[in-house]
Amino acid sequence: HPLIASDGSNRRFTYLRLSVTEACNFRCNYCLPEGYCPSTTDAPLSLSEIETLVQAFALCGTRKVRITGGEPTLRKDLAQIIQICKQTPGIEKVALTSNGYRLARQLPDYVNAGLDQLNLSADSLRPESFRLITGHDKLQQVLDALQLANRLGMRNTKLNTVLLKGYNLDQLEDFFNLVRHEPITLRFIELMNTGDNTAYYRAHHVAGQSIMDALKAEGWVQKVRGQDAGPAAEFTHPDYAGNVGFILPYSKNFCASCNRLRMSSHGKLHPCLFGDEGIDLRPLLKKQNPPAVAEAIHAGLQFKPAGHRLAEGLTGHTRHLAMLGG
Ligand code: GTP
Ligand code: 5AD
Ligand code: SF4
Repeated sequence: HPLIASDGSNRRFTYLRLSVTEACNFRCNYCLPEGYCPSTTDAPLSLSEIETLVQAFALCGTRKVRITGGEPTLRKDLAQIIQICKQTPGIEKVALTSNGYRLARQLPDYVNAGLDQLNLSADSLRPESFRLITGHDKLQQVLDALQLANRLGMRNTKLNTVLLKGYNLDQLEDFFNLVRHEPITLRFIELMNTGDNTAYYRAHHVAGQSIMDALKAEGWVQKVRGQDAGPAAEFTHPDYAGNVGFILPYSKNFCASCNRLRMSSHGKLHPCLFGDEGIDLRPLLKKQNPPAVAEAIHAGLQFKPAGHRLAEGLTGHTRHLAMLGG
């Protein structure tokens, strides 16, 4: 497909992670421990800017859009954003990453608008630990959202769990018990060092490789994943309804097969999660000219690095993942 945006390393970009707000209603202690401070930012992309942007990415061969934040459900027009993405010719799949806190009311509207797939997060399945990590006593709301997604017929719902020394390493059994009965994919994620969290990172980061090895020894088998799949390695087991995956940016180099580009909620193209400041597409978005934006995206790809340099302690311009939706 000659139209699919690709870079000098033959990576093809069919997947856009679109952040729609930096704001968040949680204060996860590895991400936004002080909560979100709205005074520092201007308005996020409007519906019309998002429409032009997604059309431009579709011209570049994007087939899947994952909406991220901050917490995307804080946008009152999120259902419209989903609909705009889904109705753009060329976009086949629209996914959402949410903390789940406010989904009970909204999820049916999102599904009606065309939402295909949902990723939630819970770093603990114990209310008190969950509160310690996120700053909010909302575990039940997240678990309810998981059930609701299932009832609404959504498939392949994922639950993200960041591995945190001192918080949840003694609780891994809880997660396996969940996956035994729930048809979800649980993904253990290695805590990533961002500009703001270095001290926390040093105290709580743990490598995931040994947990993955233990899983293999217990008969879990690695799945072959499709072309649009992300960095997770996923495993199945005949005794479990769900799957278990690992996102290990420190143990595994998945950058060579990276298929994704990112947009900040203020209209900057970020070729990498841990890259430079981002390329401002907003002036072009305002002109509502998708082909011109598509050209700027192609031009921006030359700035896509071969990979992140987390292992060297380099975090680029990323202060926390709420800036860019992970
Ligand atoms: P799908 O493959 O579409 O399900 O998405 P995902 O697993 O990439 O998405 P999600 O938003 O649930 O992200 C889960 C975690 O993976 C977050 O902590 C992200 O920061 C991390 N992640 C996603 N993509 C990348 C990547 O390209 N590089 C790194 N280092 N981390 C990533
Ligand atoms: N390292 C790893 N995962 C992180 N997330 C947020 N910040 C970090 C970090 N520094 C996770 C959230 C959520 C997902 C979108 O990103 O817990 O599951
Ligand atoms: Fe909010 Fe997600 Fe950051 Fe937690 S990790 S504070 S839910 S943006």
